[in-house]
Amino acid sequence: MRVLSGIQPTGNLHLGNYLGAIRNWVRMQDEMDADSQCFFFLADMHSITVHEGREQRIRNVRDMAAALVAAGVDPDRSVLFNQARVPAHAELCWLLNGTARIGWLNRMTQFKDKAGKDREGASVGLFVYPVLQAADILAYNATHVPVGEDQKQHLELARDIATKFNTDFGVDLFTLPAPIIPKESARIMSLRDGTAKMSKSDPSDLSRINLTDDDDAIMAKVKKAKSDQEMLPETAEGLAGRAEAGNLVGIMATMTNRTTDAVCAEFAGKGFGAFKPALGEVLVETLRPIRERFLELRTDDAALDAILDKGAAKAAAAAEPTLRAAYDAMGLMR
Ligand code: AMP
Ligand code: TRP
Repeated sequence: MRVLSGIQPTGNLHLGNYLGAIRNWVRMQDEMDADSQCFFFLADMHSITVHEGREQRIRNVRDMAAALVAAGVDPDRSVLFNQARVPAHAELCWLLNGTARIGWLNRMTQFKDKAGKDREGASVGLFVYPVLQAADILAYNATHVPVGEDQKQHLELARDIATKFNTDFGVDLFTLPAPIIPKESARIMSLRDGTAKMSKSDPSDLSRINLTDDDDAIMAKVKKAKSDQEMLPETAEGLAGRAEAGNLVGIMATMTNRTTDAVCAEFAGKGFGAFKPALGEVLVETLRPIRERFLELRTDDAALDAILDKGAAKAAAAAEPTLRAAYDAMGLMR
């Protein structure tokens, strides 16, 4: 098994990032056997599709790297790096631009969502974003790619590109990657509005639990979280139509690795006055060691950069044979 996944380095990490993405990587790494290898990277080359100043981008990469390590990604066991440090991604992306079809990219729903109404004004980078993603994956011949449901289409595109390249050039070079999509992918909602995703861009800081929030802030936010006057039901069915209640119970279930039914069974008949302190406690205890490690790592830029440098060297070596073979298959002599 060769597991690979990328995450865009966005700032202001919160509980949604942790439960929706970071924690899944740590689990995959911890379940690996001796013959398998995990590649995890920060998609900073993809982040050029979002306008950001230089300092902010540098900070975001270090923040995300520190968060991953703090949450348990072990740079000695997994290959952890940022794309920009490994030129193979950009190089292979260019080669695959000859294989990917405009018609295929036109069907990508993420492009349509992100470009919005002004398609003509969107950057070319946003349009070819999925080709760079295909290069990320194919450069390493990744077999398993843990992603959220929204990335399924990009994975299918990577398979199409791999198949067409192999056929067009008569080689058996690229491995077809399989997406690994968690059955119940945790979608964490805002603490102020159970119908909106918890997001770094929500103007209300009370809407999210930041990775840097201290114990008191976490507890206070959970206690102020919007809920309802009803009791907790016996089973998850009783949460239907109760967005905020469902979100809080869902967070508890995800944090404690239980089903929502199991959490309901424990708290059935109790109100949120009793449930919230219990949830706050779980969050405080789980996030404290991650926060402390994160803040410690963030005091030493050089150490973080050294981790990424080391990972990048391993990644470059792993990608090199495939990249060389791709150039060669196309008759590009380097
Ligand atoms: P973003 O900061 O929105 O680019 O997200 C970075 C990663 O965190 C992506 O893998 C998202 O799927 C995940 N993520 C962000 N917000 C949430 C959320 N509220 N619930 C679950 N996952 C999330
Ligand atoms: N596009 C992915 C996302 O937004 C991030 C990503 C970039 C990625 N390259 C990848 C994920 C390669 C898996 C494999 O979440």
